[in-house]
Amino acid sequence: MTAAYEYETHEYDVVVVGAGGAGLRATLGMAEQGLRTACISKVFPTRSHTVAAQGGIAASLGNMGPDSWQWHMYDTVKGSDWLGDTDAMEYLAREAPKAVYELEHYGVPFSRTEEGKIYQRPFGGHTTEFGEGPPVQRTCAAADRTGHAILHTLYGQSLKNNAEFYIEYFAIDLIMSEDGVCQGVLCWKLDDGTMHLFAAKMVVLATGGYGRAYFSATSAHTCTGDGGGMTARAGLPLQDMEFVQFHPTGIYGSGCLITEGARGEGGYLTNSEGERFMERYAPTYKDLASRDVVSRCMTLEIREGRGVGADGDHIHLHLNHLPPETLAERLPGISESARIFAGVDLTKEPIPVLPTVHYNMGGIPTNYWGEVLAPTKDDSEAIAPGLMAVGEAGCASVHGANRLGSNSLIDLVVFGRAAAIRAGQTVDPKTPVPTPNSRSVEAAFSRFDGLRYAKGHVPTSDLRLEMQKTMQADAAVFRTDKTLAEGQKKMEAVAGKISDVKVTDTSLVWNSDLMETLELTNLIPNAVATVTAAAARKESRGAHAHEDYPDRDDENWRKHSLVWFKGNEASLGYRGVITQPLTSHNDGGIDLKKIAPKARVY
Ligand code: FUM
Repeated sequence: MTAAYEYETHEYDVVVVGAGGAGLRATLGMAEQGLRTACISKVFPTRSHTVAAQGGIAASLGNMGPDSWQWHMYDTVKGSDWLGDTDAMEYLAREAPKAVYELEHYGVPFSRTEEGKIYQRPFGGHTTEFGEGPPVQRTCAAADRTGHAILHTLYGQSLKNNAEFYIEYFAIDLIMSEDGVCQGVLCWKLDDGTMHLFAAKMVVLATGGYGRAYFSATSAHTCTGDGGGMTARAGLPLQDMEFVQFHPTGIYGSGCLITEGARGEGGYLTNSEGERFMERYAPTYKDLASRDVVSRCMTLEIREGRGVGADGDHIHLHLNHLPPETLAERLPGISESARIFAGVDLTKEPIPVLPTVHYNMGGIPTNYWGEVLAPTKDDSEAIAPGLMAVGEAGCASVHGANRLGSNSLIDLVVFGRAAAIRAGQTVDPKTPVPTPNSRSVEAAFSRFDGLRYAKGHVPTSDLRLEMQKTMQADAAVFRTDKTLAEGQKKMEAVAGKISDVKVTDTSLVWNSDLMETLELTNLIPNAVATVTAAAARKESRGAHAHEDYPDRDDENWRKHSLVWFKGNEASLGYRGVITQPLTSHNDGGIDLKKIAPKARVY
């Protein structure tokens, strides 16, 4: 009975859930066009996880040498291991320079070259001449605090454009009409316990990734896949969830990120023999090979007994040969992180590092405008009306099986901006806001209430740990049929135990026990989808390194995985990869021959 909870109703043209880079860029773009826009966030906007993004944002500005959007697109296609959608990858690479200059004009304090241009550094997998030339300096940076700079600027600009913020509101569930139109979202205000129904013509999910499904992640504790959880409960699929990125350089022990910009500025990795082993695995690009490749090589070195430290279980990252002025000017943030989290003075000693979960390539399937897909047998591109997803929560899909470093920040702003452009075309400010379906509102309250008074035997933190340990062990850098089958079985057990969860605090004000339980119910479908899709994919591609099937199999597996849920029951389907670009070669687009699938070597 909804009567058990009183709630306030708010009406908007657009409601954006999440205030990271994608959420704020979408919010700003919507508000600039005069759409009545609310942005809801469970944390203060400038504490969203984008604040932790260090190294930079990719765009072919060509400030440091020749570059082109076609080269950027080629690198993205190759980085994705040919699983990305070609239209979305073209859109990303083409629009990137425009999106970065907009950021500059909004006020992002980028680092500068001597001539005053935006400073750009090398990053893994970014090259020239369609992978035939030397590494390119394409990653635009604000020292090693680029996400921080972007987030603060976008928040200020959104306020200036009269976007309305609902801060420390937790989104419980999407409100869906009987015929599948998203009509809003039900939220819980964390600081006073009041309930809020946001009715909207368009809901944009910008809730970030689900790194916290794993035990060790660079992701903030807030990265709990809330958008994916809500989408799965609304009966819509999650896409390509088997592709989980491990960043090569998480600090050993804490998992805290050491930016790839460190290797971009000249850092390198060594094993216990002091060997720069990447030269052996990736003779051309070495430490600047793509992330999935570097993470696998590090794991192999450790496995083969060449790890460093007392237990031989990590790798060294050297920056101590670089001039201290470079470290102070270009990498001040990681100098501090290395000191605090590894006790290392990086001007003198190497940093102990280990591949650490960093990014989810998969998410809520969308087209390149951010419109959520509801694929059917007859139409793999069918759209779920009233719903968009952007940023790490979404899967457009530009990163395919593996994302290049610094393609995440650009994804956030290009697709946040694209969603705003699309909403400007499809949302009519003159029409009334839909009346939310009362059955859907009722169901959301009932789920919330059930968890609030859950009197089972398993504390939330125990169940979460069981999930995190399972994912870390069984859906890791390398996978096998055996580990994945075990992972699936254990995750099914975790999902089953949610009905036996115990919540001890029933209050509604600052109830972290309840909030973490709601978050766990979002993490679980993301994790189950990951092991389900991974167990089914009998090939190796990008971040999915399957030891029983070491080769990529384009004939059978160049397709997106989809996972739907009915309760805890997961079912699998597939959708074709979009192989056609937006523009033809004759119209200044890319030559299709240049991006045809081939072996992925660096
Ligand atoms: O290494 C980094 O600075 C991370 C960048 C990214 O994930 O794009």
